[in-house]
Amino acid sequence: MSDESLIHDYRYIFQKDVLRGKVAFITGGGTGIGFTIAEILMRHGCDTVIASRRLDVVKNSAEKLSKGTGQKCLPLQVDVRKPETITKAVDEALGQFKHIDILVNNAAGNFLCPAENLSFNAFKTVMEIDAHGTFNVSKAVFDKYMKSNGGVIINITATLSFRGQHLQTHAGSAKAAIEAMTKHLAVEWGPNGVRMMCVAPGPIADTEGMRRLGGDKITDAFIKSIPVQRLGKREDIGNTVLYIVSPAAELLTGTTVIPDGGEFLTSQNNYWALKNNPVFKQLISKM
Ligand code: HXC
Ligand code: NAP
Repeated sequence: MSDESLIHDYRYIFQKDVLRGKVAFITGGGTGIGFTIAEILMRHGCDTVIASRRLDVVKNSAEKLSKGTGQKCLPLQVDVRKPETITKAVDEALGQFKHIDILVNNAAGNFLCPAENLSFNAFKTVMEIDAHGTFNVSKAVFDKYMKSNGGVIINITATLSFRGQHLQTHAGSAKAAIEAMTKHLAVEWGPNGVRMMCVAPGPIADTEGMRRLGGDKITDAFIKSIPVQRLGKREDIGNTVLYIVSPAAELLTGTTVIPDGGEFLTSQNNYWALKNNPVFKQLISKM
């Protein structure tokens, strides 16, 4: 069951009705960053569909989101690796709302593992959830709605592949594929009125992603190594998405916005520098 909660002191920067009348479809919107993206879009007048494998989780989150924002939120069961579940969900969403103006491909799977220990199926699983999943949902929403009506598609990626990172060959490869896909689709679907964007967060506090990447072992030295001197918050990512889907960003397409406080520019990424990090030490036999 979801134990997500809404932001208690949200500071409005944009007009509260900037997304009035819009509908957003958010994969993995029942938890973590996806939940907060849904919340921030809803706080600005948008209705949402949140879709993932665990129906109980999305149902529970949808109830909280609707109650907290006064907007509609439709919870649906989807496995982004299974096109038949996606087409069914997109049909249900269009049946209820008549349009999907915004798609956020946020669903992902990840764990720390050195490439030498990754099974063939482990690599394939992450590629399928992240990269295939992003294509599958984008294509279904394009075919059924955006091809004739336009829209904005935002793919949540990561900074992992920008420099190459230990224990993340699977996730970094999948996110890099999504970044390339975004450019191709921006070129092909631009004339249909579709903008395609990536948002590549850095480390975001209070998320499953951070927990899996050793978030409980964050040190002061790590925080001090980040140019803005703090970790990201889910709200930072929700606000970035809000900006991109707003009319303020009508010229943005085929590129990546990186809300990471500069972390990928300065964080340690060197085999020997990382050797005392307990999470890495445990997983890399050579250290
Ligand atoms: C090595 C692992 C593993 C691990 C699973 N596998 N966990 N290998 N280390 N910790 C292997 C399994 O052994 C199996 O291979 C294959 O991966 C598939 O595993 P399943 O459990 O059958 O897959 P599935 O049930 O589809 O689950 C997918 C999952 C799971 C990715 C493995 O963790 C999941 O559902 N995750 C969703 C939530 C999540 O990951 N959230 C974080 C997103 S954050 P074999 O060969 O044994 O069959 C994120 C951050 C990015 O993406 C960047 C941050 C900076
Ligand atoms: P999270 O809460 O675990 O979110 C992942 C979501 O994806 C879950 O709601 C999960 O729901 C859904 N999902 C997984 N596999 C799915 C599938 N096959 N079909 C449909 N839905 C599926 O993790 P998070 O940390 O918030 O991450 C959200 C996004 O941000 C991901 O794209 C991640 O790569 C990215 N990101 C996170 C960080 C970070 O610091 N957390 C940094 C960079 C990028 P179900 O289990 O119910 O399916």
